[in-house]
Amino acid sequence: MTAKIIDGNALSATLRGQLAERAAALSAKGVTPCLAVILVGEDPASAVYVRNKVAGCEKAGIRSLKFVYAADAKPEEVFAKIAELNADASVHGILVQLPLPKHFDSDAVLEAIDADKDVDGFHAENVGALAQGNPRFIPCTPYGVMKMLESVGTALKGAEAVIVGRSNIVGKPMALLLLAQGCTVTVCHSQTRDLNFHTRRADILVAAVGRPKMITGDMIKPGATVIDVGINRLPDGKLCGDVDFDSAKDVAGAITPVPGGVGPMTITMLLTNTLEAAERRLQGEKK
Ligand code: GUN
Repeated sequence: MTAKIIDGNALSATLRGQLAERAAALSAKGVTPCLAVILVGEDPASAVYVRNKVAGCEKAGIRSLKFVYAADAKPEEVFAKIAELNADASVHGILVQLPLPKHFDSDAVLEAIDADKDVDGFHAENVGALAQGNPRFIPCTPYGVMKMLESVGTALKGAEAVIVGRSNIVGKPMALLLLAQGCTVTVCHSQTRDLNFHTRRADILVAAVGRPKMITGDMIKPGATVIDVGINRLPDGKLCGDVDFDSAKDVAGAITPVPGGVGPMTITMLLTNTLEAAERRLQGEKK
């Protein structure tokens, strides 16, 4: 079997076209959607992600503001900026790029963002809302994965879904979203005893660990839908996922490539959440 490729660039292009129309409609009503992005430090990967987020905004007709701080910036400076952006009615979304330097309390920074502007969906209030089945902002990467599964018509009700990785950004919200759609969900992690046992029975396998090519074809159930969230840089400079694409594509029923899979969808869903926040503002529907 050769797997169907789930093309994140193509799906993103379709969705971003629809977003641009919504953004234009909002702007015509006097509300220009606006995302503020804060970057602290010089992590090269974070700088690329932030650049792509800002470029994505521009193309969709969303205003963006970018605030860059040195790696040794005082946390108070960043908290002051967040307070200012919380109070600014023209800003609809606020995102602090993670990871933050070690002298920052990341949880405290995320909690400082107004939950109504938390387009990452990382604020405890929004995490709680998602866990209770009433999401307000869905974290962008798992949200994008759900859109990809929908695009290929993967059956979710009763499906065995296995997630490898338990991060707050991907693994945990991914589990909640799949559970809400009726999957039987297993979350594997570094202490899981027999990873292969779990991955081999997955109808839907999501890899989000950050280890190049760790999921190989022999770990995949024939016909499974395989979603690769990993973006790893190899010594030769090339990008690869957490899934060994070459061996996996002969076993899976559908698979996301890296690059061009989940990556572009994450930004698409960030733009979606920002528009949603601006639309709620227009409707005066705070929450
Ligand atoms: N770092 C890696 N992924 C993300 C994300 O989705 N949002 C933020 N803010 N930081 C990240």
